Amino acid sequence: MTLTITLTQGVGAEITGVDIKALSDGEFQAIHQAFADHGLIFFRDQDTTEADHIAFAERFGDININRFFGAHADYPQIAMVAKEPGDTDNIGGGWHTDHSYDFEPALGSVLVARDLPDSGGDTLFASMYTAYETLDDELKAAIEGRNAVHSGRHIFGEGADTHYNQSDAGKGRIGNAAAAETLADPVHPVVITHPLSGKKALYVNPAFTVSFEGETREQSAPLMSKLFAHVFGGEAFHTRFKWQPGSIAMWDNRSTWHWALNDYQGQRRIMHRITIEGCALN
Ligand SMILES: [Fe+2]
Repeated sequence: MTLTITLTQGVGAEITGVDIKALSDGEFQAIHQAFADHGLIFFRDQDTTEADHIAFAERFGDININRFFGAHADYPQIAMVAKEPGDTDNIGGGWHTDHSYDFEPALGSVLVARDLPDSGGDTLFASMYTAYETLDDELKAAIEGRNAVHSGRHIFGEGADTHYNQSDAGKGRIGNAAAAETLADPVHPVVITHPLSGKKALYVNPAFTVSFEGETREQSAPLMSKLFAHVFGGEAFHTRFKWQPGSIAMWDNRSTWHWALNDYQGQRRIMHRITIEGCALN
């Protein structure tokens, strides 16, 4: 087998010719570099146990034990991204990036397909490198040097109107709302210099970014919604990943957004997610 890196349409790279549970140091270095360069890597036909998944993720850094997701019964490092046939709502069903509500947002996640619907359940990804690069000069100037406030409380928190309290995913699959209420809201630059690549990336997202620093949500909305609309409409830098048994996706939370499509009602979809600790962003 020879490790081969093939760019996918829009964003990301598919890596073939490797077995992620038996990587040489050289293969791992090539994978790590592809991850830094593209922010999104895919593998197919990987035969992995939970322990293999954990060992692969640990090569990238320390594992973040998720506070809100249900955990795997035997492996607390693995967060369950689950939807049963009787469930209506999914987890992550809109454009977002994970963990921007943390002061040191997670580096990224390794998602392994465990039980897939017969059809549907694809994941969309967007490049926030390209999103930044393709902003017009006026928008770039408007966000130059600015910071934004992020929060997880309106998503994971205790209020009746929080995202997951309005969703059946909040009945057993997502929990620990009290912990969300204790979170202080971090401020991150609107344009970050990516810690691995050194490239600039647009770092706001519709799920967790509340406002520009020093402005109310209402004051922020006109400019913030222009930034979001730029990404929503940026199909040239989106990709759509179709999961198959043995598929793995690993994304960088600092340079991509993702959206788990919820178009498989009445079917089961079970994914195992491991999230890797990140760092403060500048
Ligand atoms: Fe997510």
